[in-house]
Amino acid sequence: MTDPASVVNPDRCTGSIILEFSANSQTHRPPFRLGILLSGRGSNFWAIAESIRAGRLKGAEIAVVISNVAEAAGLATAREMGLPTAVFESRGRKREEHDADVIASLRAHGVELVCLAGYMRLLSPQFVAAFPHRILNIHPSLLPAFPGLEAQEQAFAYGAKVTGCSVHFVDEELDHGAIVVQRAVPVLEADDEHSLAERILKEEHLAYTEAIARVVSGEFEVRGRRYVKKQGTGRASSY
Ligand code: GRF
Repeated sequence: MTDPASVVNPDRCTGSIILEFSANSQTHRPPFRLGILLSGRGSNFWAIAESIRAGRLKGAEIAVVISNVAEAAGLATAREMGLPTAVFESRGRKREEHDADVIASLRAHGVELVCLAGYMRLLSPQFVAAFPHRILNIHPSLLPAFPGLEAQEQAFAYGAKVTGCSVHFVDEELDHGAIVVQRAVPVLEADDEHSLAERILKEEHLAYTEAIARVVSGEFEVRGRRYVKKQGTGRASSY
């Protein structure tokens, strides 16, 4: 298995930018329990785990890593890290039944924030309702542009000059909920789909840590489609 660390290490992403978030610093509550859902490589999961390990994302811990694919590389990484894992194969099962198992597992592990990290499943309405404004997803484009699969290739083929990534709350529509963090990536003359996707992925790893810190801080409201930081609270971010 490829070590996700060799794919992208957030420490090496931008050189000059060191992110540090102190979520929950004022409340001293126990760490916010994250449930990670993934279906494949798991580099976003790895980046989140590494942010927690390195102290860049305070006030959060990974309670469980769940996959719908038993062979997912990210699951193997989670096991190597000694994290609790669970597999609920989705193939051939009704969405509602499968999701009920996943919800039960998340609850059994005391999960407060669900992070979809390359989870290749649409969530049922019951799932979304079970964690209101407590499910995040990462998408490799500046939404609402290029929702759906292969967003990096879509942006490249369209001739976009700027693309990027978005971390958003999950609602019942695909790649649609309120946006928490976006990071832009220029499309360079020398790019092909692969080099562009690689640079976007580096920004994804930074964006997910920032978005989790924002949610864990609790210092926000969602007004309609808009994620809004509460006035006079929280600390300035690097952005
Ligand atoms: C990422 O590009 C993410 O934006 C998309 O799926 C991909 C997952 O990559 N939703 P990884 O498994 O986290 O490496």
